[in-house]
Amino acid sequence: MIYSRVIGTGGYLPEKILTNRDLEKMVDTSDEWIRSRTGITQRHIAADNETASDMALNASRGAMNAAGISAEQIDLIIVATTTPDVIFPSTACILQDKLGVKNCPAFDVQAVCSGFIYALTTADMFIRAGKCRTALVVGTEVYSRILDWNDRSTCVLFGDGAGAVVLTKSDQPGIISSHLHADGSYNNILSAPGNFSGGKVQGKPFVMMEGNTVFKFAVKVLEDVVNEALTENNLEVSDLDWLIPHQANIRIIISTAKKLGLPMEKVIATLDKHGNTSAASIPLALDVAVRDGRIKSGQHVLLEGVGGGFTWGAVLLCW
Ligand SMILES: CC(C)(COP(=O)(O)OP(=O)(O)OC[C@H]1O[C@@H](n2cnc3c(N)ncnc32)[C@H](O)[C@@H]1OP(=O)(O)O)[C@@H](O)C(=O)NCCC(=O)NCCS
Repeated sequence: MIYSRVIGTGGYLPEKILTNRDLEKMVDTSDEWIRSRTGITQRHIAADNETASDMALNASRGAMNAAGISAEQIDLIIVATTTPDVIFPSTACILQDKLGVKNCPAFDVQAVCSGFIYALTTADMFIRAGKCRTALVVGTEVYSRILDWNDRSTCVLFGDGAGAVVLTKSDQPGIISSHLHADGSYNNILSAPGNFSGGKVQGKPFVMMEGNTVFKFAVKVLEDVVNEALTENNLEVSDLDWLIPHQANIRIIISTAKKLGLPMEKVIATLDKHGNTSAASIPLALDVAVRDGRIKSGQHVLLEGVGGGFTWGAVLLCW
């Protein structure tokens, strides 16, 4: 049986930190409101000249070093991003060039905050189909560029960053199963409804959100997709060693864990320091927990994401 297995993780956060106190000076908000409603205390903000591919490059180098692989060994690059460097070429192609990787498929995946789950699932399928051996899968976002910094209901929630994994062919699991979903009828509740035409911006290219609707939808589908992954593999919640949810709001994470009966000690949460980094949030949290030694060989780890589209999904791994 062919499996794919994560053999290295990497993460990158821009140098600049924006605290809740800093935000108090920018919009009518408070540290207390942001912490109590979201769990976020700070987020990182990319430098003016720093792009999604720059951050992806740093995270990728970390993952490649951890995996002990060189650029020549990579034969697939998938980048999940909602904030690409340019309209085209893809951020994956720009990253490929920066890494000095030659002649492999490289493309972007756009599934907003579920992007990394979609990208990881796609890479797993390439490997299991025998189409590649060693894939680089990255989530990278500069949401600071698509936030309306006058809108307190959204600008306090997001941050910038990148996370990456190296996935390789293995006869041992690895990725056990993956579960992807989308319901486009909810496309309006979380969106950045802008575009370019004739060199001009059309619409509103800023994050817009019906916060309460998103909250309820997220809790429901995150619980459903965990149960789906467990049922398909004849596992119980107690068989999970770690849950790594998309890092959007600590109250969403706590509600999901409570509904599942999963103790918070088994949940990796990094959003207090990172904010919501969209497609980067899961690989960033994974990297933190791998590097601090919480995630150990042989453990069951469940990654789950939810985001605009609406999209959601999960990947179950044996570490
Ligand atoms: C956005 C979110 C934190 C708002 O929390 P909430 O408890 O639902 O708060 P509400 O939207 O009901 O707003 C409550 C009040 O706080 C105000 N408020 C909103 N943002 C604020 C801020 N940054 N600071 C202070 N007050 C704020 C609102 O204007 C509202 O005031 P009002 O009662 O006078 O009208 C919450 O809905 C949420 O997290 N939703 C999901 C967001 C998310 O995770 N999105 C990404 C998914 S991938």
